[in-house]
This record gives sequence, structure tokens and C-alpha cells, in this order.
Amino acid sequence: MNTRIRLHDLEFVPYLSEDAIQTRVRELGAVLSAQYAGQTPLFISILSGAFMFASDLIRHFSGDCEIAFVKLRSYSGTQSTGQVQSVIGLEMELAGRPIVIVEDIVDTGRTLHYFMEQLRLEHPASVSVVALLHKPDAAEYQVPIDHLGFSIENKFVVGYGLDYEGLGRNLSAIYQLASD
Ligand code: IMP
Repeated sequence: MNTRIRLHDLEFVPYLSEDAIQTRVRELGAVLSAQYAGQTPLFISILSGAFMFASDLIRHFSGDCEIAFVKLRSYSGTQSTGQVQSVIGLEMELAGRPIVIVEDIVDTGRTLHYFMEQLRLEHPASVSVVALLHKPDAAEYQVPIDHLGFSIENKFVVGYGLDYEGLGRNLSAIYQLASD
């Protein structure tokens, strides 16, 4: 975990180790297992970035649960495009269900804000948000994060599901854009 990596034209340095991530994901799974004991929550994972986090997280959820995926997009390269588009919608009944939104990273908060607005129209019983990463200094929308993995600096990161122009999703650790 000491080596820099290069993806396309950019260099990245190690930031969060695989061990640190896995320990935190296990803790989040335990917290959610206690919170939803006796219920069958529907985890909704926001693709593509959250696929790895969601798949690890639900393995640490001890009760019954379901999982669904939505695809939204607001990023191009290392800058937010300012637009959120729903690419793949949700087809199941959400009314009266406890929902857990699983997000990889909350940056401006636009994606989550937009998605929560859509979700409320479906009248779920409850909605909570679990995000692996949050960049508080990038916030433009106030979004509630009920369970957070790590609060991080406002710098671009890759790995553990997150990409730079398509690359880096397969890395088990998280890397930060090198500043030199
Ligand atoms: P937001 O709508 O600005 O909060 O951005 C949310 C989405 O942008 C995340 O789900 C990611 O897919 C992407 N994103 C935000 N910051 C980063 C980053 O540092 N690296 C990779 N993707 C990011």
C-alpha cells in the first residue's frame, strides 16, 4: 500500500488501506443489523461507484434484507457536471418499506438530494443513508448521512468501486489524487 499508481494521465497516492475500509464496513454492518433487527430493509445501492461497498456491507448484515440498484450520474472526469440523470430506475414497490440508501461518496450531495426526492414520492416507511465517504468541504446540498464510513478532504479519490474515467474501480484500497 506504499506505491503510487497511475490511471490515464493522473497519479494517485495511497489514502485508505483495505484493512481500514474492511474494518469500518464491518462496523457499519453491525450497526445496521442492530438498527433493523426484526425488519427486512431494502438496501438501494447507487451504481456504479457503490457496488463494492454494497456487496461487502450486506455480507455484514445479519438479518433478512433485499438489495436493488439504481444508476445515476453526475460526474465527468474529476469534476461534477452539475447534472444528475436517472439512468436505471427502480421497478419495485417501495411504499411502506424501510429503505437503506447505500452511497459510495457524498461530494456536493446533489446525487443523494435528487435521489431522496424521487424516493419520497414512493412513500417508503423510512429512509436512512449509509455512505462510505463524505467530503464535507464540497457540500452544496444538505443531505442527511445517518451512517458514515469516513469523512475525507475535498480531493479526488479512486478505488474500492470509485473510478477516474473508468479506471480504478477494482482496487481494494482507496487512493487520493497526488498533489505534486
Ligand atoms: P455528488 O452528487 O456531487 O455528491 O457526487 C456523487 C457521485 O460523484 C458519487 O457517487 C461518485 O460516483 C462521484 N464522485 C464524487 N467524488 C468522487 C471522487 O472523489 N472520486 C470518484 N468519484 C467521485
